[in-house]
Amino acid sequence: MKVAVIGAGVSGLGSLKVCLDEGLEPTCFESSHDIGGLWRFKDTHESGRANIYQSVVINSSKEMMAFSDFPPPAELPNHMHHSEVLLYVRRYAEAFKLLQHIQFQTTVVSVRQTLDFAATGQWEVETETRDGQRETRVFDAVIVCTGHFTQPHLPLGDFPGIESFEGKYFHSWDYRSADDMQGKRVVVVGIGNSGGDIAVDISRVAEKVYLSARSGAWLVSRVGEGGLPADLVGTSRLDRMVQKLFPSWVNKMVENKLNKAVNHKLYGLQPSHGFFKQIPLVNDDLPARIISGRVQMKPNVKQFCGSSVVFVDGSVIDKVVDVVVFATGYNYSFPFLPSALQAKSGYRLHLYKHVFPPTLTWPTLAVVGFIHGLGAINPLAEMQARWATRVFKGLTKLPSEKTMTKEIEKDTETMHQRFACSDRNPIQVEYIPYLDYLAEQVGVRPNLSWLLLTDPRLALNIILGPCTPYQYRLTGPGQWAGARQAILTQWDRVVQPFKSRVVPEPETKPSSRRKIITFFSGSVLLCCIVYNKQQLSSFFSSLSLLRSPQ
Ligand SMILES: Cc1cc2nc3c(=O)[nH]c(=O)nc-3n(C[C@H](O)[C@H](O)[C@H](O)COP(=O)(O)OP(=O)(O)OC[C@H]3O[C@@H](n4cnc5c(N)ncnc54)[C@H](O)[C@@H]3O)c2cc1C
Ligand SMILES: *[C@@H]1O[C@H](CO)[C@@H](O)[C@H](O)[C@H]1NC(C)=O
Ligand SMILES: *[C@@H]1O[C@H](CO)[C@@H](O)[C@H](O)[C@H]1NC(C)=O
Ligand SMILES: *[C@@H]1O[C@H](CO)[C@@H](O)[C@H](O)[C@H]1NC(C)=O
Repeated sequence: MKVAVIGAGVSGLGSLKVCLDEGLEPTCFESSHDIGGLWRFKDTHESGRANIYQSVVINSSKEMMAFSDFPPPAELPNHMHHSEVLLYVRRYAEAFKLLQHIQFQTTVVSVRQTLDFAATGQWEVETETRDGQRETRVFDAVIVCTGHFTQPHLPLGDFPGIESFEGKYFHSWDYRSADDMQGKRVVVVGIGNSGGDIAVDISRVAEKVYLSARSGAWLVSRVGEGGLPADLVGTSRLDRMVQKLFPSWVNKMVENKLNKAVNHKLYGLQPSHGFFKQIPLVNDDLPARIISGRVQMKPNVKQFCGSSVVFVDGSVIDKVVDVVVFATGYNYSFPFLPSALQAKSGYRLHLYKHVFPPTLTWPTLAVVGFIHGLGAINPLAEMQARWATRVFKGLTKLPSEKTMTKEIEKDTETMHQRFACSDRNPIQVEYIPYLDYLAEQVGVRPNLSWLLLTDPRLALNIILGPCTPYQYRLTGPGQWAGARQAILTQWDRVVQPFKSRVVPEPETKPSSRRKIITFFSGSVLLCCIVYNKQQLSSFFSSLSLLRSPQ
């Protein structure tokens, strides 16, 4: 079966690998000269592609952002710089010999159903190389992985007076670094992750940065309890279960905790939505920039007047504003796809589980990586691709068109209730439930009750530890022999990069807390020996091994 994979970012590379695993014949088309997509930093803007700024470090930690069968090197920092993400992606592509399946500088210009699609489910994929040569080839299936941070959304109509604004303005897509911001007065519009990062970045050299936020945001840190990556502590399956059982209580607890770190009202950050309604602002530096007055929070911009800016609360920046950065998000489009496949359902595309257009007689086209959840993209995209390839091969069946359409409408409704969605923010899923649902379809969802009986140590790591993607490689199609070990060693890889200065252990007597723990485990062990229950003892010994990296 010949499969066209469009794009060689992390979604495309993951899909390529999955196709090879499933014995398909993939060809990946990449319009640029290299892999990595968004993670390949570009000095000059490349239109139609995702662009990042020089200071980007990942907002989900490396173990959460890993490909499920390729743990990141232990020595890489937990929150990698974009250049290190690219390094990791390159190693992945090399390890699985993906490059030989990629045609670079080849843009897909159109994807059409063949004339006998009803009989074959095949697609005509038309490509254009850099020197303008066009070619059309037939494929049995298509996976679309073209990313969705490619079309800057610059809503100038919402900002009266911008056309005669005397300073410079641009979209965050155009931002590279703060190099030419020395001593400037800058307004950053929008408090998404990019807006927060860019405000902090510029505030280190500028005279003043004003961060204008229409709706505020919940501010979370990368650095969690004890300095461990925040997304590894307190995001386990157990935590999710508790959240599902007591949603409003958990919401309140989280908000209280965040307000204890930084009073959101005092800092002008307070959003009107609850914590779980929208992806939070991941930023460790913003509070420090605000407390030192380098960044000043402002409400929405009302209008621009010459070189000055007026906000909706009537306040005015009466000095000259030199630069305005619009971190106002992105629009998406798939210009090469038939428009019938781009129908919408609410703010989102009319795609079954965000992957399959439900109207096709043959489910041979899948969209991968067009998704947002409170978690990293790689595991989501990979799982979508694993499902898609199973469906292509006919090993997993999709429901009827009618059922899928109904499901999409239901999902859209739930999504709009659950999340603050908008045109800018069209797709949100609950991370673990979404992954688990797809995993169930593929047949790789971890069987927890079985594991508790047969491998309690692993089971407890899965239930109480972070939901790292290796969990989906333990059994079933695409099973990876290293998955168990990858889970059991994940904390080692978390701790490793901190070992650049090892603090020697002090030679002291065990603390009283230690004594209690020793006493407690001792008694438990004794009970176990008495009852000779091997399972039980390994159950308890794993309890103490969990969570805390040694
Ligand atoms: C500032 C910023 C920070 C982020 N930080 C994180 C993070 O910390 N963690 C996280 O998980 N996610 C993060 N993201 C989300 C990010 O989108 C994903 O991590 C990931 O890069 C998406 O990969 P992708 O392969 O889907 O798309 P892309 O990386 O955009 O790759 C798409 C590829 O397709 C190619 N292409 C496009 N159209 C065509 C065509 N017609 N023909 C051929 N090739 C084509 C492009 O050249 C590109 O190489 C961040 C996004 C931004 C903007
Ligand atoms: C976003 O893109 C879609 C699809 O191309 C288009 O219909 C819509 O008008 C765009 N919206 C904005 C605000 O640019
Ligand atoms: C990380 O930042 C990107 C870009 O703003 C965003 O799409 C993604 O949801 C963020 N991830 C998390 C876990 O906050
Ligand atoms: C878990 O595995 C056991 C043994 O293979 C099986 O009997 C059981 O049905 C599985 N449970 C689920 C939910 O798949």
